[in-house]
Amino acid sequence: MRIVEWAERTAEALLSNVGTRLAHVRCAARRAGHAAPALPVQDRELLVAAALVHDIGYAPPLVNTGFHPLDGARWLRDQGADDRLVCLVAHHTGAAFEAERRGLSDQLKAYTREESATADALWYADLTSGPAGEATTFEERVNEILTRYEPGSVVHESVTAARPFLAAAVERTKERLAAYPR
Ligand SMILES: [Fe+2]
Repeated sequence: MRIVEWAERTAEALLSNVGTRLAHVRCAARRAGHAAPALPVQDRELLVAAALVHDIGYAPPLVNTGFHPLDGARWLRDQGADDRLVCLVAHHTGAAFEAERRGLSDQLKAYTREESATADALWYADLTSGPAGEATTFEERVNEILTRYEPGSVVHESVTAARPFLAAAVERTKERLAAYPR
């Protein structure tokens, strides 16, 4: 089975009953498809698959640490998923900043952090997809998160610290897309 088809089935099976997460990851997959021309051809399906499963760690049966990038990556690794897919999920959208504040940095180190156009594009896809599955802008998305989570909370503090790095990944993706139009 192609990796994208597997990821779509996996997301549907695990996120259908988790609020609007399935709509969010499907939107991220569409955004990933939009960003795909910024990537080497061989990475384009990997990106869309990663977008589909990036929030799989929110599925109740997968919750272990309560930190969704890590819980999702662990489950994917247990399934024998492609290692780059596993590691992209573990480190998506500034996960290291929140892992540090949750005391989970050592556990996150079990996953290699890839620094690449593909990793940037996954962050871009997530950060331009709203929580209910609507395409949005980076600024709106970050402001929505900072409104949803209280100041002083782990998520609020982590996103505030990560913000320049999140913005940089989005900008790099936009620059790559501008350089390599469809
Ligand atoms: Fe997400």
